[in-house]
Formats: sequence, C-alpha cells, structure tokens
Amino acid sequence: MNKIAQIFQSLDYGPAPEGPEQAIAWLESHGRKFGHFIDGKWTKPGKTFSSDNPANGESLAQITDGSADDVNAAVKAARAAFKSWSALSGYERGKYLYAIARAVQKHSRLFAVLETMDNGKPIRESRDIDIPLVARHFYHHAGWAQHLSREFPDAVPYGVCGQIIPWNFPLLMLAWKIAPALAAGNTVVLKPAEFTSLTALLFAEICERVGLPKGVVNIVTGEGDTGAAIVNHPDIDKIAFTGSTEVGKIIRAATAGTGKGLSLELGGKSPYIVFEDADIDSAIEGLVDAIWFNQGQVCCAGSRLLVQESIEERFIAKLKTRMASLRVGDPLDKSVDIGALVAPVQVERIRDLMKRGAAEGAVIYEADGPVPSKGCFLKPALVTNVSPANTLVAEEIFGPVLVAMSFRTPEEAVALANNTKYGLAATIWSENINLALDIAPKIKAGVVWINGTNNFDAAVGFGGYKESGFGREGGREGMSSYLKPAWEKELKPAPAARAVAAKAANPLDETHIDQTAKMYIGGKQTRPDSAYARAVLDPSGKLIGEVGEGNRKDIRNAVEAARAALGWSATAAHSRAQILYFLAENLDYRRDEFAARIKAQTGEDGAAEVALSVERLFAFAGWADKYDGAVHNPPLRAVAAAMIEPLGVMGVVAPPSRPLLGSIALIAPALAMGNTVVLVPSAQSPLSMTDLYQVIETSDVPSGVINIVTGDSVSLAKTLAEHDGVDGLWFAGNAEASTMVEKASVTNLKQTWTSRGLYYDLADRRFEGTYFLARATQVKNVWIPYGA
Ligand code: NAI
Ligand code: MG
Repeated sequence: MNKIAQIFQSLDYGPAPEGPEQAIAWLESHGRKFGHFIDGKWTKPGKTFSSDNPANGESLAQITDGSADDVNAAVKAARAAFKSWSALSGYERGKYLYAIARAVQKHSRLFAVLETMDNGKPIRESRDIDIPLVARHFYHHAGWAQHLSREFPDAVPYGVCGQIIPWNFPLLMLAWKIAPALAAGNTVVLKPAEFTSLTALLFAEICERVGLPKGVVNIVTGEGDTGAAIVNHPDIDKIAFTGSTEVGKIIRAATAGTGKGLSLELGGKSPYIVFEDADIDSAIEGLVDAIWFNQGQVCCAGSRLLVQESIEERFIAKLKTRMASLRVGDPLDKSVDIGALVAPVQVERIRDLMKRGAAEGAVIYEADGPVPSKGCFLKPALVTNVSPANTLVAEEIFGPVLVAMSFRTPEEAVALANNTKYGLAATIWSENINLALDIAPKIKAGVVWINGTNNFDAAVGFGGYKESGFGREGGREGMSSYLKPAWEKELKPAPAARAVAAKAANPLDETHIDQTAKMYIGGKQTRPDSAYARAVLDPSGKLIGEVGEGNRKDIRNAVEAARAALGWSATAAHSRAQILYFLAENLDYRRDEFAARIKAQTGEDGAAEVALSVERLFAFAGWADKYDGAVHNPPLRAVAAAMIEPLGVMGVVAPPSRPLLGSIALIAPALAMGNTVVLVPSAQSPLSMTDLYQVIETSDVPSGVINIVTGDSVSLAKTLAEHDGVDGLWFAGNAEASTMVEKASVTNLKQTWTSRGLYYDLADRRFEGTYFLARATQVKNVWIPYGA
C-alpha cells in the first residue's frame, strides 16, 4: 500500500503544535507577575495567586487578588474618566474602538495562543472563533458609537459599569462587555475570571497602546470577593455579569433597591432537537460543535439532545462512530478537537455530576481513544437512559457530556425542550422549514439556531429567557442595555400617599347602593379567598365602597388563569390591537360614569383622566402591530430574525394615584405585546378598575388575559414577586417595597421594573412610547441559514 492510502486508512496524523514562545516572552516581559490596570497604569502586584495552564498544570503567571481598595481605586479612576469620555463625539469614541479592533487583529496569534494556554481550549477555536469575534465586536461597536445620538436620541450612558466575566470565553466575554459599554460612553471596571485573566491583561496593554484615555478601561483581577466588591460598590451605575445562575441570583439580590442597571447572562441547558427529516450527517456535525466546542464549557451548549424516536437508533449509532474520531489532547495542537477543561475543580465537579447521574440510572458511554495522562482532560461522553428528573438532564454540566432523550411528536419535542428552568438557546434540525419555523417561536429561549448551531455575531443579540438571565449582548438590544433614558435623572420623589382617616360613624354613602366589588379572575368575578373586605374612602374619609382583601391564594388563582390564557401571545398583533381599540371605545362610551367615580375617590378631575386613559389604550392598540423585530445580516449565509416576544405572565402593581390611568398606562403596553396580566390596582382607589370588569367583558378580551386582585399593594406584590409562574413584574410604590420586590424576584429571575419611590408621571405622553414596550418584551434571535 502506498503511504497516502495508508494514512487514509489509519487516519493518523502527526502533531501540529502552535509554538508558545511569543506568549511566554510576553509573560516574561511582565516578570510573570501582574498587578491591576487602573487609571491607565499598572499597579504593583499585591497578594497574588497563580494562573495555571490546565493542560499541564504549570503556572503561567502570578496575578493579583484584588482587594476592596483596589476596586475603589478603579471605580474612582472610571468615575473621573467618565465626564470627558462621554463628552467625546461618537466619532471620536468610535475611532478608539476601531483602533482596538485593529490592534487585536494585529496581535491575534499572541492573543489566541495565550488564551489557549490559560484556558485549555483548542488553538483552532481560539484562533478561528474567539479572537476573530473579538475584533468583529469592536469593529461593529465603533459604528454604534458614531450613530448613537441618531439611533438612541433620548438616551444617556449609565456612567461607571462594573463588569464581571467567566472563564469559558475570556477575551470574547471581555469584548462583549467592553465594546458596547465604551460605545455608549460609559467607563468600565472589569474583573476577569480567576482562572483566565491573562488575555484581559494583554488587552489592557492594547488599551495603553492605542492611547485610550486613562481610566476608561480598568482591569482588576481577583476571585469572587473582588467581584462582590464591584457589585456592592456604591459608585457603580450598572452591573453586567456573565457566569453561573447561582452567582447571578446573588447579584440580583445584592443590587436590589440600588437603582443600578443590571444585565445577567447565565447558565443554560439548551435543547438540540433533531427531527426525523433532518439531514442527519449535518446534524451530527452540528452536534459535535454544539456540545464539544470548548469542551462543552459553553453557556449555550446544546447539551440536551432530543431526537425523534423513528431515527433515534441510527442517529445514536452514527454519533458514537463520530465520537470515536474526536481527538482529545494538547490544546496547542492544531489538529486537536477537544482540549483541556479550565481547572481541576471543574473536572471534579463534572465527575461528581456524572456519578450522581449514573447512580440515578443513566448509562454513560465514553468513546475509546487516548487521553493525556496529565492535565484536565475528559473524554467526550454520551448519556442515555435518563428520565427528565435525572441530575444530568436538569443540571448544567458545563463539560463534554451530552444527554440524549427521544420524542415522538413535535408537541412532545417542544414540551421537553421547555422543561427546564433555563432558556438560553435551542437548536432545531429539520429539512422542513415550515416545521422548524413553527417550533422556533414555541421554544422559550433567547437564541434559536435552525440547521446550524453556535452562530454568533456582534450584530445579533445574545441572551436568555427565564433563569438564563436578562438583557442582551450584541446588536441594538445589546446597545440599549448600556443606555438609560435621559429624563430618568429628573425624576422626583413620589408624593406621600394621602392618609385618610375613616369617619367615625361611616355608613356607605347613600348615593351608592351596597355593592362589594369582587376579584376578576379567569374572566369571572370571584369572591376573595379571605372573605374579608377593605373599605374605600373618599378624600374626606367617607366610605364610598368596599372591595375584596386579596391574599396569596387569590394571586395564585389569578396567575394560573393568566398562564392558561397565554394563547393571547400567539394571537395576531392585529387582533390584539382590535381588542384594545374596542376596550377604549367601550370605556369612552361610559366616560361620565368613570369620571364621576375617579372624582369620588380622589377629588380630582375624572374627565381628564378618563380621556387620557382612552387615548393611552389607543396608543398601545396602535403599537401592537408596529413595535417590531428586525432581520439581521450576519457575515455568513444566514439571516437572524430578531423577534420581539412577550415576557409571558406579568404582574402589574399600579401606583396609588390616578385610579384608572395608573393601571391602564401599565397594562396596555403589556397586553399589546401579548402578555397576560395579573393587576393589583391602586390600593386606596381600586373602584375604577373593578368598574372596568364590565367594560372588559363587553370588549372581547379573552378570559384570563386581564386578572384583577384588589388589596394591599405591598403584600400582593411580594406574592407576585416570589411566584415562579410570573415572568415579569412591574411595581409602582415606595423605595423599601421596590427593594423587596427586586430581592424576591430571584426565585425565577423574573424581570422587574420598579418605581423606587420616584414619581413617574404616567400622564406624560413619553409613556405612550416604547419605554414600557421594551420592558414588556424580550428579543429572540432565530438564525436561519440559506443556500443549497
Ligand atoms: P461563577 O459564576 O462563580 O464565576 C463567574 C465570575 O463571577 C467569575 O469572574 C467569578 O470570580 C465571579 N464571582 C464569583 N462569585 C461572585 C460573587 N459573589 N459576586 C460577584 N462575582 C462573583 O462560576 P464558576 O464558579 O467559575 O463556575 C461554576 C459553574 O458555573 C460552572 O461549572 C458552570 O456550570 C457555571 N458557569 C456558567 C457560565 C455561563 O456562561 N453560563 C460561565 C461560568 C460558569
Ligand atoms: Mg488558567
């Protein structure tokens, strides 16, 4: 046999290592010991720890464990730099971003090798994916900087952003955080992960080299404590975090009530769905990329294979064959598929999870093939024979372990796909585009890849639903997470709610017949579970009506009804618009009665409030089919459809003032976008909304789309905040209760908007714009490849 034929037969090929010399020379140039990069200067190394190469356990350098003082110094520098940085023209800021992109490209091999040595990922990935995407991100955001004032006319940067990133894509996550922050005019304090800080330090040198003004980018290294010092620093205006859901929840709780902006990009357990009509060989290659890319240490890893039963056997057999040809080994070797995991502690964690899964009945298959004896290596693994409750199905493994299950029908595939607390990404394989596009909107995830996987681009938003976090990185959505409305700083404290003492002998006003308003749940008027009533007084303290005292049980029933009504999300926007118009029309028809009721409760001009409420319903009816998505053209043969989707079930706790408009102004945008609502109307003036039941009933609003529970705003808000069936919660009330709501929201990381004791004048027409629409929705990006 000739040599070439022999090679083909054995498929052996020699090692092709990338040299580490330049990366080592760079480390040596710093004496293999680093301080922080603060205010454009390197600090003296303090207490240090080692950053190791996980492929061989060798120490690469000593890096400083940042103290609270270090964080303080960095925040001070970022604050000092903010004024002039944000005052630069977008063009000027854009030029710096452009220069950074160029410099990253110029030093791309050094970055790639250093990344691979510090993290263990295959050089093929750091060279061909991580670093090119880093450059792409800075280029893309150079453009945003320049067009900022045109595209976001009423927005201003937050100020100083604290950014905390994980170790799986060290430089890429840095780019995702720093590029939009700087484009928007913020300055940053960034903490890389303790296992992988070196490319961030090399990046600091790039900032120096391009002459970025001092203090604009500050890099503080350290562990979790250093991250916590950033999160809790009082002079930081926004926190952006990528990492585990566990720490994300700690950060959500820690920032509650502080008014800090927050975006969280957390864990995942993303489904990889293969239908029987898929191009199976492509689906197998996609799967290799979905779960073994970066050793499976990917937040959006396709770690749950859901394969249609009719092809299961064939698919698994092919997969095993393919697994046998994956090469595990030296990450610097260009022909290695699977490198080292980031650190021994992660290897241990994964082994433990696998042991638990096996004890629960899972069958674990590992491909044959050599694995280096030293270093953090694991074989690719395939887990079968699992029930949905198995640890390996439920938990994010963050390693090279694929879990496989099968399904029969598309409905079952959707149910299994959504049977997780996470919602970061999903992949769908089918040659039937109709089927794929039918499934994509049904999956609760921020990114859906059709017939492809792990596509990323700076122009396309990335981020999660549910406990995978909130906020997006990339694209327009990503830019908006680094901006806030300019008028926010003008908000004044809300006036204290009027305290009215009930009159001594206080019979129900003789002009009102004795009527106790009930709850409105699932389209029916229901008695309060507590069987208690609360008094509604006029401004002089006279009793003018009674409503039910809602409790936990009423909220639970209302949430259940709202969940059952989620078909509303899938109705055409045009139909939702028609219903909101009809509601407006029917309200207008009874305007005198509603005006009188407002006047009776508040003493204020009811006619004006009713007119504004009708107008507001019109406004959001008008928005229903116009607040729309986009189609992106990322640099590959695919389009990414950015679809605007509702959050789901929203709790809305209305402010005490403006009994009608206060509720309408909040529920109208939520409903227009397809959310169903559990409303807690003004606690002291609830009668305008209980009067509305009849209007709702005559306006074709489907049962369960609007549910109304009267009672104490704060205790009902608490129940809503803690409820896992609530996807978003808006609370207008005092600062203390707002803090409570944000803290309690960690149960399922529901998105919150709170007024924090500030006066949002809902009569202001700025609130008939996109402000609440953006907060009632989330963006899902669906990637659709084209070409034969
Ligand atoms: P982690 O969430 O603890 O670390 C991420 C970053 O947060 C690091 O920079 C860390 O120093 C910092 N940090 C830790 N505690 C903090 C705190 N209390 N306040 C502020 N910052 C804090 O993740 P870890 O421990 O490295 O990995 C554990 C597991 O988390 C992984 O096995 C994986 O399942 C998951 N994970 C998920 C990621 C994702 O992107 N979805 C990324 C990293 C980890
Ligand atoms: Mg390392």
